Amino acid sequence: MARFIDELKRTHSCGALRLADAGGEVVLFGWVNNRRDHGGCIFIDLRDREGLTQVVFDPSENEEAFALADQARSEWVLGVRGKVRDRGEMRNANLATGEIEVVGLEATVFNKAMTPPFEIEDGIDTHEEKRLQYRYLDLRRPELQKNILMRSRLGHATRAHLTERGFTEVETPYLVRYTPGGARNFLVPSRFYSGSFYALAESPQLYKQLLMCAGFDKYFQITRCFRDEDQRIDRQPEFTQIDIEMSFINQDDLFAMLEGLVFRLWNDALGVDLKTLYPDGTFPRLSYEESMRRFGNDKPDVRFGLEHIELTDLVIEHSGGGIPMLQPLAEKFKNGTFRRDLPEEIVKALVVPASASFSRSDVDKLEKFVRQMGAAGLARAKLGDDGAWVQSPLAKNVTDDFRAAVNQATGAQPGDMILFQFGAEAKVQTVMANLRLHLGKKLGLIDDSPENAWRFLWVVNPPLFERDEQSGQWTAAHHVFTRPHDEDVALLDTDPGKVNCYRYDLVLNGFEIAGGSIRLHDPVVQQKVFAAIGLDETEARDKFGFLLDALTYGAPPHGGIALGMDRIAMLAAGADSIRDVIAFPKTQRANDAMTGAPSPASVEQLMELKLRTVES
Ligand code: AMO
Repeated sequence: MARFIDELKRTHSCGALRLADAGGEVVLFGWVNNRRDHGGCIFIDLRDREGLTQVVFDPSENEEAFALADQARSEWVLGVRGKVRDRGEMRNANLATGEIEVVGLEATVFNKAMTPPFEIEDGIDTHEEKRLQYRYLDLRRPELQKNILMRSRLGHATRAHLTERGFTEVETPYLVRYTPGGARNFLVPSRFYSGSFYALAESPQLYKQLLMCAGFDKYFQITRCFRDEDQRIDRQPEFTQIDIEMSFINQDDLFAMLEGLVFRLWNDALGVDLKTLYPDGTFPRLSYEESMRRFGNDKPDVRFGLEHIELTDLVIEHSGGGIPMLQPLAEKFKNGTFRRDLPEEIVKALVVPASASFSRSDVDKLEKFVRQMGAAGLARAKLGDDGAWVQSPLAKNVTDDFRAAVNQATGAQPGDMILFQFGAEAKVQTVMANLRLHLGKKLGLIDDSPENAWRFLWVVNPPLFERDEQSGQWTAAHHVFTRPHDEDVALLDTDPGKVNCYRYDLVLNGFEIAGGSIRLHDPVVQQKVFAAIGLDETEARDKFGFLLDALTYGAPPHGGIALGMDRIAMLAAGADSIRDVIAFPKTQRANDAMTGAPSPASVEQLMELKLRTVES
């Protein structure tokens, strides 16, 4: 072993050798991917992060090396010196190094390995929990290696692109003061101040604004954020943001900067030139209102149609159209009791094309699907040849006029099926958005051809406030330092629900990959925003005193954005889950399957922190 490490230097990676190298002598280090005994010769595929090389051990070349290869097993770590030879007729076109093989002249075992608990290869169906428990083995699989290497390129490209453009990378604290609102924080007990806690930063938001006040002008940071939220395929309790803030800019400037960065990331990490898809270098913009209307959410996947059709006004016009369930909604409007700024009821539809040849049992399954989300049911109507509604519980009640109007509004054709939802707006939007996605996938409508593979879009101009369903109070939809549109400032006192703001999300194929806003730097408007959410001065000072102070000492106009690095990596890698692009992720239940974190604290630790745990 000593000769290998001390005298022989690795000459190539296991993915490097080509026909042009034939005849040369090489030294390779790597893991035994597999070993085959072919009548007198041993074949070992040696693997490292760059690929595989076939090494042949022939006793007539070197008996000692052959004997060693004979003993070697999967995942042993070997060093090999050998000669590169053309594989001739035995070339393997599926392997980058498939034109050659290395004839082993000398070998050493750096380490033996136990039999791994699962095969180190792509496409295994081993349960994820098991793979995460042995993550260091899982990470040896080419797919994960590729993802992690690609992610590293994303980080590198980000740093290069932003520093080339005058951005300064500044680190901000992870141990911060707890501020209510926003995501749920992790708390860290303080030993010096017993009974007091730090919060782990959910983002560097306030600090990056302070950096603008401090005159740094253009800031970025690739930073970890911590949020104690429920897990999903695109969420982790600790995740990475590419966090950005700029001074003296407006929304268009920010968009242009970010589009440039995303183009660079796709180019450097994936070799994809987004210019071919977005020739003018910009991503399309969609208003929040339009996004909600057409897709039911603010992160639409626009790789397929199945858009929603709003039928609320039609229902009101037709006084419920003869459908008993819709009568109350129409009545509320007629009596003038319906307040547009309260959680209101809406009616939406989408059309499943005849080509989907939906059977009754398909529809029953769909109904089950929407009921799981809390929907009361799934009203539907299939169109007969004459436009009549067949296979529809609504058919016997509906007025002819209303039916004709719905057919026209939805554009449904004979054989198509119209699916309806009505009820409280938030519920209808969620159910319909999920229904659209579910159908898009199930019916194979998502076109992921190269021209359609990367559908970016900005979702802009959302409302500044949203109603808290329990208290009925207005709360900041994003955060309280978002700048309202100038023309809406007057509405802050009178009709806060109508105030739109400079907040924006960047969406890719149905995932929110970035979000940010132009910030409020005017103390007068700031006070109005606080007033609208019922925050008096003392409370505002208590929560954000340091930032409010900073804003009064000469704050430049500023704004920023944060990109979800893990989500970008997941989409760029074509991975099914964010966990596939994070070296050591938490499981869906937010624990670390390998180390066992979180773990109970010892009595001594608790005593030191003056903490006591209680049975829940
Ligand atoms: P926001 O909360 O929208 O904005 O987060 C920005 C982006 O971070 C990603 N993200 C997550 N990724 C993985 N797991 C999570 N739990 C998670 N939560 C968020 C998303 C999201 O778009 N301070 C503001 C940014 C700003 O206003 O500049 C912020 O944190 O891709």
